[in-house]
This record gives sequence, C-alpha cells and structure tokens, in this order.
Amino acid sequence: MTNERKLSRRATLRGAAALLLAPFATRISLDSAHATGKKIVRLSKLPIGSTFSFTTSTQGLPAIVLRTKTGVFAYSMICTHQGGSLAYNRSTKQLACPLHGAKFDPLKGGQVVSAPADTKPLPRVKVAIKGGWVVEA
Ligand code: FES
Repeated sequence: MTNERKLSRRATLRGAAALLLAPFATRISLDSAHATGKKIVRLSKLPIGSTFSFTTSTQGLPAIVLRTKTGVFAYSMICTHQGGSLAYNRSTKQLACPLHGAKFDPLKGGQVVSAPADTKPLPRVKVAIKGGWVVEA
C-alpha cells in the first residue's frame, strides 16, 4: 500500500469517526451530574504547565487535563464543529482539530480561536484535587 493510499484511508476513517461523533459534539454534558470521583492522575505527576490525556469514566470520551499556576482544569477533546479528535499543541498551548482547522484555547475557557463559523467553545470536564489526585468531580 502506498503512502498516498494510506493517507487517503486514514483521512476517510477520520471523516467517518467525525460523522459518528458529530451528534455527541453538541450534546456532551460533562458536568458533575454523574460524578464518579475516578482518579485521573496523581497531582505530583502533573507539574504546572503540563497536560494529561484521559477518558471520562461516565461517557468514555477523550479529554485532557491541564495544570496552570491557577489550578487544574479539563476539557473534552472532541471538536464542537463536527466531532473531530483534537490534539494539544504544546508550542501554541491550543487544542487543534485536523478536520477543518478549528483551534481552541484551554487557557481561556475553551473558547474558539479559529474555526468554521458555527463552532462552539469546548465543554469543560469538572475535575477536583482529592488526596493528592486529580479526580473527576
Ligand atoms: S470537525 Fe473540527 S473543525 Fe470541523
């Protein structure tokens, strides 16, 4: 299989995943209604300025937790446009979507930095610090 064909297949699979996840993109409710207290990462393993990817225990959705000088917070890693899988860019400190180029700023409430016109801010995942762990709140 050539690289071109592999890329085409990968792009097709990403597109299919986006279509499957799209209905969830606008309905994701990652609030404390179903809090589990699930341990995400030891706080000592999450220094200021670092991130940690995890899957939410209630909905099995990809998410990312970030630690800054002001605290620990987390966001969904599913693009609010059409459900693409976001990736964290350490140099820009933004979450970027490979499908249509949306970018979100997790340091500013998950707001849209650039995107297709109808893209909404990222849903926040509630987390807390308990017993030296970052947990789902
Ligand atoms: S699905 Fe992310 S920008 Fe369109």
